[in-house]
Amino acid sequence: MATLENKTIWITGASSGIGEALAYALSERDCKLILSSRKKDALEKVQKQCAHPENVKIVPLDVSDFDTLSEKAIAAQAAFGGIDILINNAGISQRSLIIDTDLEVYKRIMDVDFFGAVALSKAVLPDFVKRKKGHFVTISSLMGKFSSPQRSGYCAAKHALHGFFDALRMEHTKDNIDVTLVCPGFVRTNVAKNALKGDGSPKNEQSESIANGIPVAVAAQKIIQAVERKKLEVYMGQKEVFGVYLKRFFPTLLHKVVSNRKIT
Ligand SMILES: NC(=O)c1ccc[n+]([C@@H]2O[C@H](COP(=O)([O-])OP(=O)(O)OC[C@H]3O[C@@H](n4cnc5c(N)ncnc54)[C@H](OP(=O)(O)O)[C@@H]3O)[C@@H](O)[C@H]2O)c1
Repeated sequence: MATLENKTIWITGASSGIGEALAYALSERDCKLILSSRKKDALEKVQKQCAHPENVKIVPLDVSDFDTLSEKAIAAQAAFGGIDILINNAGISQRSLIIDTDLEVYKRIMDVDFFGAVALSKAVLPDFVKRKKGHFVTISSLMGKFSSPQRSGYCAAKHALHGFFDALRMEHTKDNIDVTLVCPGFVRTNVAKNALKGDGSPKNEQSESIANGIPVAVAAQKIIQAVERKKLEVYMGQKEVFGVYLKRFFPTLLHKVVSNRKIT
């Protein structure tokens, strides 16, 4: 099992939710952290609340502003002299039926949830290859393994992450590069409030399933365990995790169960 002590870890989407909880948990383990997201003030607050703020640097960025990401990667690499682990966590969800969803909303979700992770990983990859080490941790979702109504674009983006990062692992195992795909179920964060409606505006309401999800600190600990064990893929949550196995072995049953579920 790999120890994370003293490792340099770059976390996107670190201003709230899972990314924020990962920052606190990893700072307690004496990791050096680079925190990124769009909101600099929120990142500074997280930095101050970390166990070792002196070992935390901030690199504000928008993962969908692709032209800026090489320069951001250079800044992140310079912060502590190289990145050991990149956690692609930034993301936005969706709550709208396909018939009501503007094409622009699909493009926005793909840009942030899929192309953002791809672009940032490509910016870091040459350095990982050169150093013959590195670990990409990509926060997908159970929605990357099976779909649900009202999240069509989100499910598409999360499924796409598996296609890309499984291939990246195949191409770069020879370079000692690891890839962990993390698939959470419902985790208590603001993800539903920040989810986009069909016209691109935020939903601005908590959902019942997210409010009843696992605590974010628990999700962070499970993610850290998966990273230490260099798992290829990991699922976490409550009964929703069974959806992965239903989809694999009883796809018709999965279709019926999820279609008939109340979506919140
Ligand atoms: N909570 C769940 O139930 C759940 C389940 C499965 C998967 N996930 C995944 O977990 C990840 C984190 O979500 P969360 O639950 O912690 O939700 P959250 O509290 O809404 O956090 C989302 C984070 O992403 C950042 N972000 C959004 N758009 C960005 C952009 N264009 N560029 C850079 N950063 C951006 C936000 O920061 P700024 O606003 O400061 O940019 C924020 O820090 C997402 O990938 C989500 O899909 C969550």
